[in-house]
Amino acid sequence: MVAANVAAPGDRERMTAKTDQRAELKRRFAIIRRSTEELCRSLTPEDYVLQSMPDASPVKWHLAHTSWFFETFVLAKAGLPPLHSAYGYLFNSYYNAVGERHCRPRRGLLSRPTAAEVYRYRAQIDERVVSQIDSLGQARFADLAPVIELGLHHEQQHQELLLTDIKHAFAQNPLRPAYRDGGPGAADPSAPRADPPALGWIGYAEGVAEIGWAGEGFAFDNEGPRHRVYQRTYQLADRLVTSGEYLDFIAEGGYRRPDLWLSEGWAAAGEQGWEAPLYWERREGRFQAMSLDGMRDIDPAEPVCHVSYYEADAYARFAGARLPTEAEWEIAAASARIEGNFVESGALHPAALRLPEAAGPSQLFGDVWEWTASGYSPYPGFKPMDGALGEYNGKFMCNQLVLRGGSCATPVSHIRATYRNFFPPQARWQFSGIRLARDAVS
Ligand SMILES: [Fe+2]
Repeated sequence: MVAANVAAPGDRERMTAKTDQRAELKRRFAIIRRSTEELCRSLTPEDYVLQSMPDASPVKWHLAHTSWFFETFVLAKAGLPPLHSAYGYLFNSYYNAVGERHCRPRRGLLSRPTAAEVYRYRAQIDERVVSQIDSLGQARFADLAPVIELGLHHEQQHQELLLTDIKHAFAQNPLRPAYRDGGPGAADPSAPRADPPALGWIGYAEGVAEIGWAGEGFAFDNEGPRHRVYQRTYQLADRLVTSGEYLDFIAEGGYRRPDLWLSEGWAAAGEQGWEAPLYWERREGRFQAMSLDGMRDIDPAEPVCHVSYYEADAYARFAGARLPTEAEWEIAAASARIEGNFVESGALHPAALRLPEAAGPSQLFGDVWEWTASGYSPYPGFKPMDGALGEYNGKFMCNQLVLRGGSCATPVSHIRATYRNFFPPQARWQFSGIRLARDAVS
């Protein structure tokens, strides 16, 4: 018999596991929150407020909104009142169930609160979340730990947006300033360049496959349920389309041939004067492109980037191919290692392929998000999260396309083979690129 005040061996193991779970959550919380602030290290106070278009948000807004997320969905649920009564209005993004909000295109007009005040707000939220992780009873912790986990993945999404949004803002400045003064992966103009390997095709057999998330660990609600799909035989390109190949598309009149374009794409290209990917500029007879290190020459071997779905689709038609469906992409990626050029490489730019994978497609993860031909729709049996968080993904399942694989601005711990990113077909400011597919040649 065990005395009442002495834990049995099984109890001790369970208590250790619970303590470890809290310690691990606090560890990841600290790392991810700090990573966001590290991305801002090279910015000036003036940079924090820039909003270059309605789709992009100022750095300061990202810093505050990610904190508001924890305050609203974790701290308020734990019974803590908001730190600032107006911040809910200023930093709610799109949650109708939470309340009214400042309109998105005018986020750049918020000179107040200052960046220093937003940093103080972040520090206070950090302290409160950590305190809740330490002090919540086990039942409340079990309820709120998954929401804290969601908040961390949300924060990682905004880390990527922070980079793509500041890149877009700096690209509007005639000085084309660099986001940083060199970095571990900053562009080295003297680096030797090599041709990418010739594009090859990998075949996949016909059959019934399963896609979507199931199992342990974190996934967004839009990644499930796991379900069966019937898949015809198909082929997937063994690497991404390069800038050199895209230069051929431009040189051969790709932007002037309506037969290559979807009707909406042709209209968008005409209205917006597209003649090359976003950020490409002709200077002294050759193309250069804006990067987070400022302007740089186009490396023909690196993956083409900052193309819309329309451009990706037109290029695929030009190449005698098509874009993959998300099922085709996921079947190929399911057995691939999650390795690649992610934000941790420090390059902040897609990298030329030097060593192709021995088996299976290269560059599935990292470098650029890959446009798929699949509309962003609910999987069979999809259920959004309960409550206001149900607005996170489900309400955007209309008129957008799915992108897969992550980019050079994505944290590696954020991506999965089942991850479904989504943007409207005209969007170009994300690190979006092209992988080709085609029906099997009989
Ligand atoms: Fe958000």
